[in-house]
Amino acid sequence: MLEKDIERVLITREQIQARCAELGKELAETYKGKNPLVVGVLKGAVPFMSDIVREIDTYVELDFMDVSSYGNATVSSGEVKIVKDLDTNVEGRDLLIVEDIIDSGRTLAYLVDLFKYRKANSVKIVTLLDKKEGRVVDIDADYIGFDVPNEFVVGYGLDYAEAYRNLPYVGVLKASVYQSN
Ligand code: PRP
Ligand code: MN
Ligand code: MG
Repeated sequence: MLEKDIERVLITREQIQARCAELGKELAETYKGKNPLVVGVLKGAVPFMSDIVREIDTYVELDFMDVSSYGNATVSSGEVKIVKDLDTNVEGRDLLIVEDIIDSGRTLAYLVDLFKYRKANSVKIVTLLDKKEGRVVDIDADYIGFDVPNEFVVGYGLDYAEAYRNLPYVGVLKASVYQSN
């Protein structure tokens, strides 16, 4: 039913699962013996976070932060605001931020600065998608699932006006969905 709004599938569920397994192995090596705090950025990161943490076979803790910059628009407002803060004190902790996508880089630049200011021991980023052409702020992920072109992608956590987060794949949204006629 949701499929009728999708122009084409970019990344299948199977490709995502396979990549999660690869990344999970790398992350388990990196964080063995470190008990990292895995920080999911609500709401987009939820499906990917759920998959990736189950592929990391070592001790981790989970927490969530809700920062928002987009609202119900296809272009960034440039504003980052904390909607929900972490429950955990990050001082001295090793942090792994989990994101669904890096676009302008504003959200992650803000979070990395914040966690460094709060004296985290280390801050790394894993993102399902990297839209490099969208970058406004100079920031890169340490672990990337897939590169995506500069198109409006939805699914696997990524929304348009809060919809499509539950699509089990990443696809390009039909322009007719967001263009008024
Ligand atoms: C989206 C996405 C990333 C961020 C990326 O979140 O999930 O968190 O934007 O864009 P940026 O690199 O330009 O900052 P959004 O703020 O839309 O909130 P959501 O996760 O609840 O959809
Ligand atoms: Mn988000
Ligand atoms: Mg959004």
